[in-house]
Amino acid sequence: MKREDIERLIGELNTLKCNSLKMVEEARIKYLGKKGEITALFEEFRNVDKDSKREFGKPLNELKQVAIAKIEELKAALDEAGAALEASEDLTMPGDELELGSRHPVSIVREEIVNIFRKFGYDVAEGPEIEDDHHVFEALNFPANHPARDMQDTFFISAGHLNPLLLRTHTSCVQVRAMETMPLPIRVVCPGRVFRNEAISARAHCIFHQIEGLYIDENVTFADLKQAILLFAREMFGPQTQIRMRPSYFPFTEPSAEVDVSCNICHGKGCNICKGTGWLEIMGCGMVDPNVLEASGIDSKKYSGFAFGMGLERIAMLKWQVNDLRHYFENDLRFLREFNTSLEV
Ligand code: PHE
Repeated sequence: MKREDIERLIGELNTLKCNSLKMVEEARIKYLGKKGEITALFEEFRNVDKDSKREFGKPLNELKQVAIAKIEELKAALDEAGAALEASEDLTMPGDELELGSRHPVSIVREEIVNIFRKFGYDVAEGPEIEDDHHVFEALNFPANHPARDMQDTFFISAGHLNPLLLRTHTSCVQVRAMETMPLPIRVVCPGRVFRNEAISARAHCIFHQIEGLYIDENVTFADLKQAILLFAREMFGPQTQIRMRPSYFPFTEPSAEVDVSCNICHGKGCNICKGTGWLEIMGCGMVDPNVLEASGIDSKKYSGFAFGMGLERIAMLKWQVNDLRHYFENDLRFLREFNTSLEV
């Protein structure tokens, strides 16, 4: 028998840590169980000679007391922690609800329109929101100082240059980029955010969203445009939908038209959504002006095309009869939660 064995065990016991009752019981067995280390020392003690008994008896008893006290102390600490946990937590309580967000109505409408045109074979293109004068105006047949520029009140970023930077006022500039870079024939829709210097009201905002489409190939005619828009309108507003076109003006299309769809609320009888007319205006369109094709390096003798553009907020307003454009930008959860539906196509 050696003094060091006793001291080593005391040292071990003093630093013993357990974080479960199971570990405490294992420690008890290790030291004090039938085959435990301390029990073994007591066995050994029986056989030491009389003189040594006096030397080892007292420390051995002390070791046993240290072990018993330590095991008790660890048990009590864990019992207390367990009781505190039980008092503070009701494990049968239902968990916190996971709140799911919903798609923004403008995103829902954008996705729906993009999916319709994808089915018709159109690609999707995007471009920068900060654009240059060339792509927003010049290449679209709005010459500098031409009064047609008054149609779109513009936020300029850098003035005084030949080709100033500005916030794009329509997504037609993405079509210019498509004409400059994509191989012919081109069939593309361009959804995106646009900016105009307008006073904010129920019917106008300085930020809104558009989706514009462009198709350029040989022998594209106004009849193709009319058919594409009719098919789109029926996919979007239902199979009974009728369209009508009214002459209009855009610098980049000739001829140009505004498109109305038959009111899907009153089916032509007249209601307050269509203001009693039976028709709802949804987009502008026209045959791409040869000047615009040439400005982007496309041979206007060989190719022709059509373009159309609509406001996403306007379509969403018609779809859900929202009467104030500002709702789309205020992020009021009571409004956004109304659209907690999956995509209806
Ligand atoms: N860019 C036009 C606008 O913002 C819409 C449009 C696009 C009209 C394509 C005709 C053809 O008002």
